[in-house]
Amino acid sequence: MEFHRLARSGQVPEGVVRRFFLDDLELAVSRFEGEVHISTNYCSHLACLLSSGKVTEDGLLCSCHGSVFDYATGEPLSPPAVKPIRVYPAREVAGEIFVGFEAPEAP
Ligand code: FES
Repeated sequence: MEFHRLARSGQVPEGVVRRFFLDDLELAVSRFEGEVHISTNYCSHLACLLSSGKVTEDGLLCSCHGSVFDYATGEPLSPPAVKPIRVYPAREVAGEIFVGFEAPEAP
């Protein structure tokens, strides 16, 4: 696993989801109960930007049609989405947020 620096911790306060890029990869980074979660920024339903959604106690809410995705697994917890979103390992060290990739897929 390779970890790449993505953002400063202060850029993702509690209860917020923001968009970040790592090369061409567009990611949604959210924080719920202190923990950082990273996923693709594209909803698996009709590709709305998840960074326009909301952090909820159930998961990341897509604001287009209301699907909620589990932070840890990316599984949809409510319709209309039926497919999971891709999630990535997150690490926070010394005030910086890092995203993890399997070595061969690192950007
Ligand atoms: S695009 Fe996200 S729920 Fe429809």
